[in-house]
Amino acid sequence: MDDAKYILQIIKRRASSRRYSDKPVPQEVIDNILEAGRWGPSVHRQQSWRFISVSDKNTILRIADICDQKAANLETGGNNFGGRIIRGAAFCVFAYNTGLLSGPLKKFKKMTYAELAHLAEIQSIAAGIQNMILTAEGYNLGSCWLNMPLVCQQEINACLNEHQELIAVVTFGFSQDSPKRENRAEGLIRKIL
Ligand SMILES: Cc1cc2nc3c(=O)[nH]c(=O)nc-3n(C[C@H](O)[C@H](O)[C@H](O)COP(=O)(O)O)c2cc1C
Repeated sequence: MDDAKYILQIIKRRASSRRYSDKPVPQEVIDNILEAGRWGPSVHRQQSWRFISVSDKNTILRIADICDQKAANLETGGNNFGGRIIRGAAFCVFAYNTGLLSGPLKKFKKMTYAELAHLAEIQSIAAGIQNMILTAEGYNLGSCWLNMPLVCQQEINACLNEHQELIAVVTFGFSQDSPKRENRAEGLIRKIL
C-alpha cells in the first residue's frame, strides 16, 4: 500500500475513545507520540507549543477531581468537563501555547497582528495534537481531544505549576470502548476545477 493510502486508512480508522483499560502504555510509545506532536507544522517555525505529558496517576486523578468538582459547583445538570475521561486515561497531554509569536506583538498595540499570530499559534498546536492522536491510532491506542476541561484552566495550571494558555487536554489509553467511526457530512467540500 502506498504511503498516502496508509495515512488515509489511519485517519479514517481513528475515532474518539472515552474509556480506557488499565493496561499501561510503554514510555517509548508515549515518547513517539510526543515526538509526532513536535514535528507538526507551526507558524514561522515558532513551535509555540508546550506539551506536558502526565502519566503519574495521582496527578491524573487530581485533575479529574478538579473537573468533576467544577461541574458539580456549576450545577451543569449532567454536563461534564472531561473528569471521567481523564480519570481513566493512561496518560494525558496538556497542550499549552507559550505565545512566542503573539506575545511580543502585543506591545506594539497592533492588535490585528497579535490576534492573527495568536490564531496561527492555536492552529499550529492543533496540528501537533492531530499528529499525536494519529500516531496513537497507529499504536492501536485510543485518544480523545478535550476542550471542556479548559473551564478549569486556572486550577489545572496550579496543579501542573504552569502559567501559559491551556489550549487542549488530550487523553490516551488502550481503548475499552469500541468507538464507532461517525460518518462525515457530505457537501462540505467545494471544488473549483
Ligand atoms: C477542538 C476539539 C474539542 C473537543 N472537545 C471535546 C470534549 O470536551 N469532550 C469530548 O468528549 N469530546 C471532545 N472532542 C471530540 C469530538 O466530540 C469528536 O472528535 C467528534 O464527535 C467526532 O468524533 P470522532 O473523533 O470519533 O471522529 C473534541 C474534539 C475537538 C477537535
